[in-house]
Amino acid sequence: MADFKIAPSVLAADFLHLEKDIRLVNECGDVIHLDVMDGTLVPNISFGFSVIDHIAKIATAPMDVHLMVVEPQRWFKKVASEGAAMCSFHYEAAKHNTADYIAQIQQLGMKAGVAVNPDVPISKLFPFIGKADYFLVMSVFAGFGGQKFIYESLDRVAELKAEIEKRGDDALIEIDGGINLSTVAAVREAGVDIAVAGSSVYGSDDPANAIAALRSA
Ligand code: DX5
Ligand code: ZN
Repeated sequence: MADFKIAPSVLAADFLHLEKDIRLVNECGDVIHLDVMDGTLVPNISFGFSVIDHIAKIATAPMDVHLMVVEPQRWFKKVASEGAAMCSFHYEAAKHNTADYIAQIQQLGMKAGVAVNPDVPISKLFPFIGKADYFLVMSVFAGFGGQKFIYESLDRVAELKAEIEKRGDDALIEIDGGINLSTVAAVREAGVDIAVAGSSVYGSDDPANAIAALRSA
């Protein structure tokens, strides 16, 4: 099994002490997960590029931008200019443009990810195996941190993993939502490569230890 990575979600960070919370990921985490929401694709607004500009100045861990926005293609160049290593957009926002958007992200030098909400059949992702670098399976409905893990996500991950392996592809699976010490072992077992964790990391009294515990669960 490839390395299992933990991607702390900055959505749950302390915005009054953001520097500390980014350095935590540089030192103890694997990937900095950055949720950009537009209030239209998802029923919430988070932060945008003015915040990411500052994070980028001190980020040494790779930045993973999760675009929860309509017309995500408008922002790919901007995401690349921030130095992000990974950029995902939602299948629901892209539909028939999905393959084109993957190619655009890759041409900008980033790994391209396709994200899906829990109510989208996982087979909708199959046409993009062999194209996308990773798939972001939402295990809660995108929009808010601190929600409960949806257990059906385990079957969705396993089904996607089986299809990736069947085709001899090496796309990674990232999972996002409700990851904590009670759910992380099961998602890893199902075939997840990167687990996003917001509240279970930043809500912990000892976030560094929380990351280590999730990674080795
Ligand atoms: C939700 C975001 C997540 C969120 C996860 O739409 O995409 O990245 O921060 O938060 P937790 O880990 O608290 O469920
Ligand atoms: Zn996210």
